Amino acid sequence: MRAVFQKSFGGPEVLEIAETERPKPLPGEVLVKVHASAVNPVDVFVRSGAFPLLGEPPFGVGWDISGVVEEAGPGARFEVGDEVYGMPFFPRAATGYAEYVAAPSRQVARKPASLDHVHAAAIPLAALTAWQGLVQAAGVKAGDRVLIHRAAGGVGHFAVQIAKAHGAHVIAMASPARHDFVRGLGANEVIDYRTTDFTEAVKDADVVFDSTAQGDLSLGVLRPGGVLISIVEHADPELAVRVEAAGRRFAGISVEPDYAALEAIADLVDAGLIRPHVEETFPLEEAGKAHELVASGHVRGKIVLTV
Ligand SMILES: NC(=O)c1ccc[n+]([C@@H]2O[C@H](COP(=O)([O-])OP(=O)(O)OC[C@H]3O[C@@H](n4cnc5c(N)ncnc54)[C@H](OP(=O)(O)O)[C@@H]3O)[C@@H](O)[C@H]2O)c1
Repeated sequence: MRAVFQKSFGGPEVLEIAETERPKPLPGEVLVKVHASAVNPVDVFVRSGAFPLLGEPPFGVGWDISGVVEEAGPGARFEVGDEVYGMPFFPRAATGYAEYVAAPSRQVARKPASLDHVHAAAIPLAALTAWQGLVQAAGVKAGDRVLIHRAAGGVGHFAVQIAKAHGAHVIAMASPARHDFVRGLGANEVIDYRTTDFTEAVKDADVVFDSTAQGDLSLGVLRPGGVLISIVEHADPELAVRVEAAGRRFAGISVEPDYAALEAIADLVDAGLIRPHVEETFPLEEAGKAHELVASGHVRGKIVLTV
């Protein structure tokens, strides 16, 4: 099968397609024939060596997949022909940019029936990050005032819709070219992060969802008892202490595979409450171009590879 590997850290040029052995599913695993695989900023950080999660190369790249079960190992909870999606093995290597991935059947979920594979692949890592922060850690509920940084991005555009689906009042930070987009996702208020000081514009938020390392500024807009969710990879370890000392709650998120949450997300997608936005697709051979775009830091929604 074909898969994208890298033999050294570096720019997009280190990504190369290689022929490799098709994996065999072990007990409890499914072999997924991958139709699409999404690109996340973490793929770019790992590729460059900025976030050496996988140790030294060589290794296979990528996590988000959507596809069809080709083989099921003994005890796996899917059958041949089932459509599934997920982010198996994260943060260990999964080689998701590939024609086949063998995955523990509890690390993938049934794909939303209303979506094609390209849109389903856009969901797992980004939407689970938003879900694990907003729903599982913060328990966001109807009427909560939720401030979302980086609202037009991969994680942010799911965070807006997940908060909204739970009845929250959503305040979204985005550049003006993205304002109609985030309003269309359900944001009640929109702030231009380039020209407006959000610490002046927002008061008494119940929840802040921070992906921009602005933890201390975000703390200042939370009501007493409010929750600061941080998904920043290299967050200041003392931030949690300052947040708790100020009488607010801190939730640091490092996303994990979670089939039950992916099924809950699929239900909201099929009910029309969440829709992934795919800005552009690239064939597997052009994974490097997809990485360049994601590395720009200004993609709206997601970039997906077709396999
Ligand atoms: N902890 C975890 O488990 C976890 C999981 C997933 C992601 N993350 C991290 O979370 C971050 C966001 O991930 P993502 O996938 O959402 O990234 P992304 O899709 O690349 O984010 C792009 C968006 O960020 C916006 N943006 C760029 N600079 C900004 C700024 N200074 N202030 C506000 N918005 C800004 C852009 O908006 P404009 O175009 O309007 O400028 C763009 O829409 C990344 O650092 C990623 O590594 C962490």
